[in-house]
Amino acid sequence: NAKTAHIRPDMQRALPSRIMNILTKAGEVAEGLNYQVYAVGGLVRDVLLKVENLDVDLVVEGNGIEMANELAKVIGGRVRPHEKFGTAEIIFPDGYWVDVVTARVEYYEYPAALPQVEQSSLKHDLYRRDFTINAMAVALNPERFGELVDYFNGREDLQNGAIRVLHNLSFIEDPTRILRAIRFEQRYDMDIEPQTLRLIKEAVREKVIARLSTERMWGELKHILEEADPEHMLDRLSELGVWDYLFPEITFWEVQYVISEIPQALMILRNWGWAEPAEKWLPYFLSILHLTAQETAYTICQRYNLGRRQTEKVLDTIAYGRVALRRLSATEEVPLSELTKIVQTLPREAYPMFLTLLEDKNAIRRFRLVMESVNKNKPTVNGKDIRDMGYQPGPMYRRALDSVWQARLDGMVQTREEELEYIRSFLEHNNAPKIQPKQPKPPM
Ligand code: CTP
Repeated sequence: NAKTAHIRPDMQRALPSRIMNILTKAGEVAEGLNYQVYAVGGLVRDVLLKVENLDVDLVVEGNGIEMANELAKVIGGRVRPHEKFGTAEIIFPDGYWVDVVTARVEYYEYPAALPQVEQSSLKHDLYRRDFTINAMAVALNPERFGELVDYFNGREDLQNGAIRVLHNLSFIEDPTRILRAIRFEQRYDMDIEPQTLRLIKEAVREKVIARLSTERMWGELKHILEEADPEHMLDRLSELGVWDYLFPEITFWEVQYVISEIPQALMILRNWGWAEPAEKWLPYFLSILHLTAQETAYTICQRYNLGRRQTEKVLDTIAYGRVALRRLSATEEVPLSELTKIVQTLPREAYPMFLTLLEDKNAIRRFRLVMESVNKNKPTVNGKDIRDMGYQPGPMYRRALDSVWQARLDGMVQTREEELEYIRSFLEHNNAPKIQPKQPKPPM
């Protein structure tokens, strides 16, 4: 039997009103349809931990798609149904979405008693999940709103900091859970409990990770690299023998030091005015790959299906990192504009890794000067200005913009007018191709 407790106050504390409103409305709509509806998974876990979580996953004992349609009429949003699975997403114009799934009904267990069938279908849904801490639900129907449904002692495990699977085949059924276990353990500073740890080791020995598609592997890996402190997770991946499946080409201990220093480097760079990159995982990914040969790095990028721009960033880091390191660490004086030019061959996302590799104070000081001068000297012109001048988009844009940047650093141009003038003469000088005016139609 489920232990019940009421956590409405915890919900009110942890969740923003937009989410509370969705949950309340979901309960009312379900009531009208004579269904039971629950919020499940990460949101419940995080409410109990007093951590904000905006991912609403609803489980409906009833028709999930019908539920999603009715709910969208009340809270807005567009419904994307997946008939085959009985699931749907409600998607809002701002990109936010709510997942609605149908709880599987266990026909065989209590064929006669309806309430028990309903209960057991939720239980069945929760039982298929990864860990006890993620297998709790909170009831949303009006008279039960805030009732915690905890069949597997998730709350107790949460309090004791234990990551525990629900059954022995969990990692065999879904090997991504091995990475998830590590992620949750390190994120919440918990422990994978002994039996679960044994199951992980057994699964790794049986090479279950090799059965995962690279797509799923990458999904989990990227999740890890986007966490607040991936470095401990990567340590643990290596300790448990998972690393070798993710990066067979890379010896963990060779990159471990750099990875472990990234958080510190990120902090320093932020203080220097470095803007956080949109792809949070890239600084870590680059520090994992920075010692690899070009071809190997390329293979890894291909395997994980990275985009062209991302792959370029990896390859640029490897190609130019060493030269940049040498110039910044040179004992003789090097002009700031030259250093800047060199640093700018590296993607911004490589700066954290780069900073950890700089050894002496002087090199670090130079790097800082470069960053500051780059921030100060950002030109105001951009690609659009060049287009307005009538030039065809292409590699020349980048060269022109780099060049004007250089000119600013060297003090050759100062105002926006001077920048535009500089660009104009640069493009003319380099015979940049103009946009062809449309040919007038020949007279019939
Ligand atoms: N889940 C699972 N097995 C997986 C992935 C997910 O059982 N391999 C279940 C868990 O109950 C989890 C829920 O689906 O809580 C939602 O998954 P997801 O959004 O990936 O994770 P969260 O638990 O919300 O974690 P995070 O805070 O990282 O988003």
